[in-house]
Amino acid sequence: MSQREELIDAEQELKHQGPSAGALRAAEALRDVAAVPGVAKPDPILVADGVVRQFGGLTAVDVDHLEVQRGTITALIGPNGAGKSTFFNLVSGFDTPTSGTWSFDGKDVSGWAAYRIARLGMVRTFQLTKALMRLTTLENVMLGATDQAGESLWRAPLRFLWAGQERENRARAEVLLERFRLTHMRDEFAGTMSGGQRKLLEMARAMMVDPSLLMLDEPMAGVNPALTQSLLGHIQALRDDGVSIVLVEHDMDVIMSISDWVVCFAEGKVIAEGRPDDIRRDRAVIDAYLGTRRSLSDDASEEDQA
Ligand SMILES: Nc1ncnc2c1ncn2[C@@H]1O[C@H](COP(=O)(O)OP(=O)(O)OP(=O)(O)O)[C@@H](O)[C@H]1O
Ligand SMILES: [Mg+2]
Repeated sequence: MSQREELIDAEQELKHQGPSAGALRAAEALRDVAAVPGVAKPDPILVADGVVRQFGGLTAVDVDHLEVQRGTITALIGPNGAGKSTFFNLVSGFDTPTSGTWSFDGKDVSGWAAYRIARLGMVRTFQLTKALMRLTTLENVMLGATDQAGESLWRAPLRFLWAGQERENRARAEVLLERFRLTHMRDEFAGTMSGGQRKLLEMARAMMVDPSLLMLDEPMAGVNPALTQSLLGHIQALRDDGVSIVLVEHDMDVIMSISDWVVCFAEGKVIAEGRPDDIRRDRAVIDAYLGTRRSLSDDASEEDQA
């Protein structure tokens, strides 16, 4: 059996084992939460209030109130241009809002720089991967470590001050390469990787800071089906390990199979949120988004026939 076939086999097996402990915990935590935009969650890790971002006359994001439950896979869906990526940019410190505040793990981090937010444990990946093509896979992953003593100008020449940390980072990066099945690419330039491998690389890099909240912007886009299954497995495993995940995704099969909670954006606003089953039946979601895509009932009947 080839490595790829083995992988697919393993993923199939996982599917037949039913919901994981992490999925059951998430469902239990969200059990009494109503499917209403802006609804409070029992234990939110991220809370956004009045977050608005305007570009000239265009309001890209206008989120009144949004809470993300800790320990869940929360999917962000919505049509192109709905403001999903801009919302990611704002809360992760890569862009500045026109107004609004948000807190991470109970701490107000509005206006903080991205590296400080990352250090606190909220890390994001980008819709278009940002791998550095002329660095090796290992070097790219090691870049994820924040707070590197060797980066400071006065410390850089004093190798004894940071060599230990460098060693630790390298060891951690090696473990992550192993976890994301990239060890064979360790010393290759990132430029030689496939799009899917680069997505894995980005996830591995984000994991360097041991995040408690991982925000993934279309992690499966451009990834081949076998690798998609493997990525989904990784995302679920992270949630099962207690990492909270927010992901932007367009593939409704993916959303329905892995999300504990779904938030739908349209024209910058949260127009609906709920369990996947609430969302697939939501009139506002169907009108704004699903109606324009392959219908969900088609998906369901295909599954039934399979
Ligand atoms: N830097 C910018 N300058 C001007 N307009 C921007 C900028 N960034 C985003 N926009 C606009 O803001 C709106 C929201 O864009 P955003 O990229 O957040 O949408 P999205 O939901 O991520 O879409 P997609 O599903 O296509 O990735 C769009 O109308 C976009 O053109
Ligand atoms: Mg986007």
